Amino acid sequence: MAVALKPKGLLEYFERHPEVEIVIFAGKGGLGKTTSSSSLAWYMSQVKKKRTLLFSTDPQASLSDIWEQDFYGKGEVEVLPNLFVVEIDADRRVAEYQASVKQKIKDMYGLDQVPREIEEYIDSTSAEPAMYESATYDAMAELVAAKQYDIYIFDMPPFGHGVRMVAMADILSKWVEKITEARAKVAEYDAIAATLKGEKGHEDAVMAELIDIRNKIRAFTDLLTDRRRTAFFMVLIPEKMAILDTERALQMFSALGMEMSGLVVNQVYPADLLTKEGTSDYLRNRVQMQQEHLRVIAEKFGDRVRAMVPMFTREPKGREMIELAARHLMQSELMVEV
Ligand SMILES: Nc1ncnc2c1ncn2[C@@H]1O[C@H](COP(=O)(O)OP(=O)(O)OP(=O)(O)O)[C@@H](O)[C@H]1O
Ligand SMILES: [Mg+2]
Repeated sequence: MAVALKPKGLLEYFERHPEVEIVIFAGKGGLGKTTSSSSLAWYMSQVKKKRTLLFSTDPQASLSDIWEQDFYGKGEVEVLPNLFVVEIDADRRVAEYQASVKQKIKDMYGLDQVPREIEEYIDSTSAEPAMYESATYDAMAELVAAKQYDIYIFDMPPFGHGVRMVAMADILSKWVEKITEARAKVAEYDAIAATLKGEKGHEDAVMAELIDIRNKIRAFTDLLTDRRRTAFFMVLIPEKMAILDTERALQMFSALGMEMSGLVVNQVYPADLLTKEGTSDYLRNRVQMQQEHLRVIAEKFGDRVRAMVPMFTREPKGREMIELAARHLMQSELMVEV
């Protein structure tokens, strides 16, 4: 029998790409993003001794769940030496953001109170999903900009988000650029009007704020789209829907002019269950079905597959299980034959 697929594990990738400082796991819901992010974070911090930040914005607090410790809304929590976990409370983040916008409006225009219509408008934005994404994005950008860690691992909410985030960075950047241009024009007119009135030109505080936002977004987008420094992995399982989704994600990536760093195939039943005595028909059928899908994965994605992680006999939760999952993610042993 010929070997169709025998990925080495993510360790090889990281040894070949030592400059990577941001890692993002994307993929459909429930296939293993949080498990993979936690595993990689364990390995980088405990084996490679890198100062590691593991970050999530999941309102389900799934990092708290897998690590069996409460991180939600608590800031940067050191869970093991070199390993820090942040699980942001996006609701609170949005509220804080709104408060700061109101404060800025008051400061800029010297008001005691934000006009009611504007206040209502700002409050209504919390219902917008885009507001959450923006709050998330902002939190990520801020953490990275602070340069306190060697590696940042972002555990993403279900599919779309991870990939869309890059597109969003692009959109946001263009949007700020447009406003900046418009403001620059207004500032010119303001300056002319001020000169005519014999006033001295004043500094444009709004403009300065916009330039600041734009620069922050630009720096972060540059980092995210820099293949040397950022790695995107997609997690899938040997099932038809997941394979289709992966194909779509790969297409979205190339449409954005980006490249996926690799795929992680999770929840794989070891093929030797088929030859072992005592394997039930029920399990045998599942293993066989997976083997067929794995051959399709080998055909379609080939050496884009960087790791294969077995289906564990229990949920990978708690430090010991995370360590076990990490060993498989980093140095995979499973293979697929044809
Ligand atoms: N290799 C595995 N073996 C057994 N169970 C696994 C494995 N990988 C993940 N699981 C379990 O599958 C479930 C989903 O995994 P995980 O939470 O990592 O997925 P996710 O992609 O982060 O999901 P979501 O999209 O909801 O955030 C969890 O209960 C997890 O413990
Ligand atoms: Mg998750």
